[in-house]
Amino acid sequence: MSNAHHDFLTDFATMSGFGATPGGGVDRQAGTAADHATRRWFGQWLAAHGFTESVDRIGNQFGTVELLPGAPYVLIGSHLDSQPLAGRYDGAYGVLAAAHAAAQVLAEVRSGKVAPVCNLAVVNWFNEEGSRFTPSMMGSSVFTGKLPLHAALATTDPAGITVAQALEMGHGTERNSAPGLPDVARYAEIHIEQGRILEETGTQVGIVDRTWAASKYRVTVSGAQSHTGSTRMEDRRDALYGAALVISAARDLAAEFEPGLLHTSVSELYVLPNSPVTIARQATMNLDLRSPDEAVLERAMDILKKWTAEAEERSRTEISLELTHNWGLVSYPAEGVAVGLASAQRLGFTHTEIMTVAGHDSTNMKDIVPTVMLFIPSVDGISHNEAEYTRDDDALRGVELLTEVVRRLVCAEIAARKSETNAGS
Ligand code: GLV
Ligand code: MN
Ligand code: MN
Repeated sequence: MSNAHHDFLTDFATMSGFGATPGGGVDRQAGTAADHATRRWFGQWLAAHGFTESVDRIGNQFGTVELLPGAPYVLIGSHLDSQPLAGRYDGAYGVLAAAHAAAQVLAEVRSGKVAPVCNLAVVNWFNEEGSRFTPSMMGSSVFTGKLPLHAALATTDPAGITVAQALEMGHGTERNSAPGLPDVARYAEIHIEQGRILEETGTQVGIVDRTWAASKYRVTVSGAQSHTGSTRMEDRRDALYGAALVISAARDLAAEFEPGLLHTSVSELYVLPNSPVTIARQATMNLDLRSPDEAVLERAMDILKKWTAEAEERSRTEISLELTHNWGLVSYPAEGVAVGLASAQRLGFTHTEIMTVAGHDSTNMKDIVPTVMLFIPSVDGISHNEAEYTRDDDALRGVELLTEVVRRLVCAEIAARKSETNAGS
């Protein structure tokens, strides 16, 4: 094993120690002590490797290095926050891979092997996961102008703590040390697949060409609070019963379509007053629909609305659906896909174009700048679970691939052009 490989695996093991769980995963939701500890460690890593750390107002953590004064930046990264009781790879792998790729390209620039036309920056996007604070991809949504900063900062977690307060609890040096945000001209990200396609087809790397569409709703079921024992069955307006009917309907919805066309989940539930002797007056849930076909999402919602009307009648409750976050079935920029493919070819890695089912910060970035999104295999496709795993050789191959991509981007393999809508910067 080369020194570079050894260093990457050692750093990854160190990083995975923050918020480590007994089952071999991590638990570091956005803005928690574990997230802040990881961020501090990462800030030190950046400084030790020649990058200048800066943090914007929504907590996106950048490490920049100026190679050509005034030139726009190639930005690479992912996210260090995690779901509760999650795996070590989701997001964190991509941030560390970006850091190592950037450090390698920086060394090549310094030794004269690579002649850059762009500057270089690494990013840890704040709150990609959206578990503690919704929506997901918060930091990159603010950066790309899709979500207002004030709305993001005012978002509360279930305990009523705002994003602004959670960020404030971080270490002082992380805040607004900004020498100015990087002016981004291209973006690249690498992530574990979180699916089984690469593994099942024996393919080493994936070049993401499209994303599945997603729609997320807040479902509110309103009933009436009353005594569990003394209220006659015919008098009940049980919000939790209404919620149960919706949960079951959401699951049945997927079976209305060809296998693989629709993924549905109710993934979160809050019940008021949540007392053993009181019928619930309100239940609030998150409903998550995904499809590789936007028309399927529309048809699914038409059916679900009929079913929720039936659920309202049966449970004598009122059910409302509010769209909270969505994205369409969108292509990644062809020029980015081409750079990914050429890089995999050059390195002799078996590769395929692949869709992403999960959302990523690149889902936002691709809308404002040419973007390259890369996948490496996930064992058994397990994700958002402590058992999430990617083999070391696959992880190292991914770093090599990302390094090649960054080399090409820094040398302007994509014709230098700046986005007109680089909104957040
Ligand atoms: C990611 O944030 C997702 O919602 O897939
Ligand atoms: Mn992720
Ligand atoms: Mn995730």
